[in-house]
Amino acid sequence: MNILVTGGAGFIGTHTLIELYKAGHTAVVIDNLSNSNPVALQRVAEIIGISQIPFCKVDIRDREGLEKVFAEHKFDACIHFAGLKAVGESVEKPWEYYENNIGGTLVLVDVMRKHGCKNIIFSSSATIYGDPVEIPITENCPKGQCTNPYGWTKSMLEQVLMDIQKADPEWNVVLLRYFNPVGAHQSGRIGENPNGIPNNLMPYITQVAVGKRTELGVFGNDYPTPDGTGVRDYIHVCDLAAAHVAALKCFAVERLEVKGETEEASHLNIYNVGTGNGYSVLDMVKAFVRVNGVNVPYSIKPRRAGDIATCYCNPAKAKAELGWEARYGIDDMVRDSWRWQKQNPDGYPED
Ligand code: NAD
Ligand code: WQD
Repeated sequence: MNILVTGGAGFIGTHTLIELYKAGHTAVVIDNLSNSNPVALQRVAEIIGISQIPFCKVDIRDREGLEKVFAEHKFDACIHFAGLKAVGESVEKPWEYYENNIGGTLVLVDVMRKHGCKNIIFSSSATIYGDPVEIPITENCPKGQCTNPYGWTKSMLEQVLMDIQKADPEWNVVLLRYFNPVGAHQSGRIGENPNGIPNNLMPYITQVAVGKRTELGVFGNDYPTPDGTGVRDYIHVCDLAAAHVAALKCFAVERLEVKGETEEASHLNIYNVGTGNGYSVLDMVKAFVRVNGVNVPYSIKPRRAGDIATCYCNPAKAKAELGWEARYGIDDMVRDSWRWQKQNPDGYPED
């Protein structure tokens, strides 16, 4: 298939491009580079062994720009990563988050349908479960109250896309609810490259290990978890990338014929993408130190506002319906995160 990859220059997008090409697909990337660097795409092309990844610097809110891309290429599906994702920033700048993530997606979807491309895989998040009413979380777990505007953009966009699919059965919408992506490609050439102080645990750990930050603050050790620190479902980004390729199966003709049979079935393209294992903050720190032989000083800090104690999924549905399951474990995650950071202490060089 030829896939439009929005936000393809970012962390998950770059890893997904490699999996797409490995599986024989082709892709065109659009990205406004607001949180990414074109050097990442050059490195993806090197890893794949092609001269370059087709790339257009376009904002998904830019209707004319999108029209041009659709006039020049024919797409079988869109994998839609583009969006702002910093939880704390979304609390400070809610308008910017709603406008970029929701406004941008509405423009994208409108241009897609005008050009007859009605297959979309959307990057959703475990955050839409709020404080989940069941652990492990299945896809039947009700959506919850989000604690920040970023989370609400994901929750609301799920609703928008489901309503669009319901109104027009030609649409095929896949919602992938990612748990906590970490790790990096085994080459160490691409990885997570946060701006400023990292919000997320793994890039914070790697920046402490490489000497850019003095110590990790562990946000709370009084949660009702085995060691008192927060428990999450960390997933290797290469596994997450592979889940997108597996999800393209939802657009296969045979599957669509089956899907048309019941109304219920047509709304079931929702998948948790995690490993099903819950690890605490201290589990992650200890694994990082053990596997990589580096020191990660830490101290216990107060809880972070909006955090929940425990979040991990039951990924059985993705295995049963997409034939996808995570292959990498915690040791792979911490090893590959460290390789990327060590080889690129300051992230990507300027273009
Ligand atoms: P990322 O910031 O590395 O990638 C997102 C890309 O989208 C960036 O390259 C950015 O420049 C681009 N972008 C943002 N707004 C745009 C716009 N208006 N037009 C065009 N491009 C735009 O983030 P990521 O970690 O790769 O996340 C990809 C997607 O997955 C996002 O939608 C994110 O919300 C979602 N997600 C991420 C996580 C996570 O922990 N990383 C978890 C769950 C869901
Ligand atoms: C993990 C654990 C922290 C940093 C967020 C978003 C979610 C999704 C993934 C996009 C928690 C603890 C963290 C630190 C710490 N993103 N921690 N010290 O909060 O599970 O999920 O990223 O969709 O929407 O909310 O991930 O990596 O920030 O935190 O102790 O410096 O590590 O308290 O227990 P989180 P995280």
